[in-house]
Amino acid sequence: MSSEAITVVEVGPRDGLQYEREFFPTDKKIELINSLMAAGLTRIEVGSFVHPKAIPQFADIMEVLDGIGHPQGVLHSVLVPNVKGCERALDTAVDELALFISASETHNQKNVNMSVAESLSALGKVAEMGLAAGKRLRGYVITSFGCPYEGRVPMENVRAIIHAYRGMGVSEVSLGDTTGMANPRMVATVFPELMESFPDMGFAAHFHNSRGTAIANAMAAYQAGVRVFDCSAGGVGGCPTALGAMGNIPTEDLVSLMEEMGISTGVDLDMLLATGALVQSVIAVELPSHVLKVGRPRW
Ligand code: COA
Ligand code: ZN
Repeated sequence: MSSEAITVVEVGPRDGLQYEREFFPTDKKIELINSLMAAGLTRIEVGSFVHPKAIPQFADIMEVLDGIGHPQGVLHSVLVPNVKGCERALDTAVDELALFISASETHNQKNVNMSVAESLSALGKVAEMGLAAGKRLRGYVITSFGCPYEGRVPMENVRAIIHAYRGMGVSEVSLGDTTGMANPRMVATVFPELMESFPDMGFAAHFHNSRGTAIANAMAAYQAGVRVFDCSAGGVGGCPTALGAMGNIPTEDLVSLMEEMGISTGVDLDMLLATGALVQSVIAVELPSHVLKVGRPRW
């Protein structure tokens, strides 16, 4: 892979669907994930091992994991908030555990009913269990660019969490702009600073499009050297406990933008558009993806 190429982490089946009030049928979840793999996505967040009362959408996570294909070269990831979730995840063949914690106290408390310190302690145990079971570890820092309750989030908070993640053996940190508060200048400052401070850590960008800035932020992150981007098919989704949460960058839009610029994504856009259409056929409201609506440019 050239140093220009990017990797898309498809988070639609998790981040996207967790926001949906209607249950996305299990067979459609399986079809969606299989279709994403067929389109060339090699990293897919397939769901969450959170409390089914908190997020009923993932009550069928075991059936989904049993139903999807597990081809070589594809990493399946699941979100894990605590030891109980980790125990459940370790009964399955998932490749990666995605830990998550907010950089602001109020958001973390509302999201997982724990203080940041309590989350860090729980995730330390999760990481230990995950590594012992041979799992790869990804760590989200939610509200990295601003919190809907507390406003500005001190960079020191973000830094402290990354430091803790590094100590736990996390190999990649995804900086989350959970409610779309980031702007390209902020992104152009934050990523290089952190990448310099943590040279051995992988970094990913996770933008939500609440204020229409997600794709501009992705471009700023790319220019800052980020090569891993979280997206969701059709642009479906958001974080239910965060005010103003909207979908991630639509996968079709990012893949189209990058490929048009000659930056390889490894994804077949035509097949991806068929995947987006599948999501749209299940979800009643019109999805925000632009390229899904108008198609790819034809030269
Ligand atoms: N999966 C399933 N059950 C779980 C669980 C998990 N990951 N974690 C805890 N539980 C169960 C416990 O076993 C306990 O069950 P019991 O009452 O039968 O004994 C019960 O839930 C309460 O446990 P507790 O540790 O007190 O959890 P809580 O009620 O404080 O909830 C979370 C904490 C993290 C489980 C919950 O807030 C959650 O799932 N949040 C998800 C948030 C999310 O996904 N946000 C989107 C990401 S942005
Ligand atoms: Zn998100």
